[in-house]
Amino acid sequence: MQNDSGKTISIWMTSAKIPEQPALTENIYADVCVVGAGIAGMSTAYILTRQGKSVVVLDDGLIGGGQTARTTAHLSNVLTERYYELEQIHGKEGAKLIAQSHTTAINTIEAIATQENINCDFERLDGYLFPPDVNSLDEIQQELEAAHRVGLTNVEIVKKAPLTDFDTGVCLRFPQQGQFDPLKYLAGLAQAIQRRGGRIFTGTHVEKIKGGFPACVETSSGQIVTADAVVVATNSPISNLATMHFKQAPYMTFVIALKVPRDSVYKALYWDTLDPYHYVRLQKLDSEYDVLIVGGEDHKTGQADDANARYARLQTWTQERFPMVQEVLFRWSGQVMNSDDGIAYIGKNPFDEENVYIVTGDTGIGMTHGTIAGILLTDLILGRKNTWAELYDPSRVRIGGVSDFISENLNVASQYLNWVTPGDVDSVEKLAPGTGGVVRRGLTKVAAYRDENGTLQEHSAICTHLNCIVSWNSSEKTWDCPCHGSRFDTNGRVINGPAINGLASVEDK
Ligand SMILES: Cc1cc2nc3c(=O)[nH]c(=O)nc-3n(C[C@H](O)[C@H](O)[C@H](O)COP(=O)(O)OP(=O)(O)OC[C@H]3O[C@@H](n4cnc5c(N)ncnc54)[C@H](O)[C@@H]3O)c2cc1C
Ligand code: FES
Repeated sequence: MQNDSGKTISIWMTSAKIPEQPALTENIYADVCVVGAGIAGMSTAYILTRQGKSVVVLDDGLIGGGQTARTTAHLSNVLTERYYELEQIHGKEGAKLIAQSHTTAINTIEAIATQENINCDFERLDGYLFPPDVNSLDEIQQELEAAHRVGLTNVEIVKKAPLTDFDTGVCLRFPQQGQFDPLKYLAGLAQAIQRRGGRIFTGTHVEKIKGGFPACVETSSGQIVTADAVVVATNSPISNLATMHFKQAPYMTFVIALKVPRDSVYKALYWDTLDPYHYVRLQKLDSEYDVLIVGGEDHKTGQADDANARYARLQTWTQERFPMVQEVLFRWSGQVMNSDDGIAYIGKNPFDEENVYIVTGDTGIGMTHGTIAGILLTDLILGRKNTWAELYDPSRVRIGGVSDFISENLNVASQYLNWVTPGDVDSVEKLAPGTGGVVRRGLTKVAAYRDENGTLQEHSAICTHLNCIVSWNSSEKTWDCPCHGSRFDTNGRVINGPAINGLASVEDK
């Protein structure tokens, strides 16, 4: 598939056949307009069509072309925060609902794949959570007790994960996790949505969303979709200027996929408890080999540009623990939105009309959060009660999340100092072909990229969301905003919200 979320290529992009869709060329009406065709938008559209709703999905790229193409697709009820921490933040009942909702999401994906006959390599398997060293055993014991309290009673402590060359030491086994190919799954969902009368338009950039009756979604080429409800599933909401972006923080995370002989690594999901943590799974490559997919090395978006060093550290970490690995076949990165209390924000857009809904704050667990959004938002739109509604309400404030909220927002505030620092290079003449950098020009800054042919492309370096200065990402060849994670390609086109508009041309500033 064409790659529209960065320059690197994930394993899924090479195998999935994503059906091409037309762009929207006329004004239309639907019961529900879903903006964003990633796992969250497509799951919501699918479940709504099953309830008989007419649905239109709009995306400015391809189906699944956002972060869903860049995931590692562990399907898990083990979140980034531990359950004993989630109990402190969300209370004992809240933590039970978290476990229950993620378990339901895995079951739902399995059921949809079966009912719709989607060949997406879905598999059930165990997950192993292990400490980085023996001194962290307390954490494992504490988590075992919390897992049982929240209803995951089949979680057990084992002496080590079932790996031949890597002694993880005592760890937790979480049965009944899952994995799949996310793009094959979305291709299947697209067909199922269309079979039920849903319409999907790609290459259609949404510029304005207005709640009310009817709600209006306006595209950059001037078409309007009117709808009884709008679901904003753009990963980072484009319908919300500030509120949500103070409650979550964007992080880049890195992945390598290495060739391994079949059956040389026991098939399971593996996570350590470091921060940032490593996450590991297998995927079939051909009749003799698998790939071992290893992720980690996260950093705050736009605040480092050292992907090669991060990929190298991932490779060393992997070779030390999985000596049977062979060459690296894929390296890619993507962005996750870490919420300040460990779970996604799913529900009514704060301060908006009743009929605009959002899903964001995936916290690295977006496959299940996106599926939870499909179930929960369908219930909210249909006016049905859902026991998860309060837990995931985007307007919530949880005391336990306050320290993250403060430190992340202090970090954002400090990024505005970039207005007064020198540029990355003092002259665009110093940019070699294929490289970019921010250059100071008088009181402002310019994002300059010299393409492979030597042609210079300049844009304003001022992010169109809330005016931070973007940074060059040399691995993905994107301009990344260090404040709330908007990202732009070398043509200045926005590829990640919350920004709606691309970088301005230099003449306009
Ligand atoms: C490296 C990596 C590994 C991960 N591993 C896991 C994992 O193992 N398990 C897990 O559960 N999660 C994982 N995640 C997280 C998960 O991949 C994401 O949370 C999830 O894919 C997000 O889905 P989404 O539908 O919210 O967003 P996206 O897939 O990004 O979809 C949003 C869509 O909105 C569109 N859009 C944006 N703005 C506009 C606009 N103005 N107009 C029209 N369309 C617009 C975009 O084109 C995009 O297609 C990982 C993420 C990364 C990056
Ligand atoms: S993403 Fe908010 S200022 Fe750039």
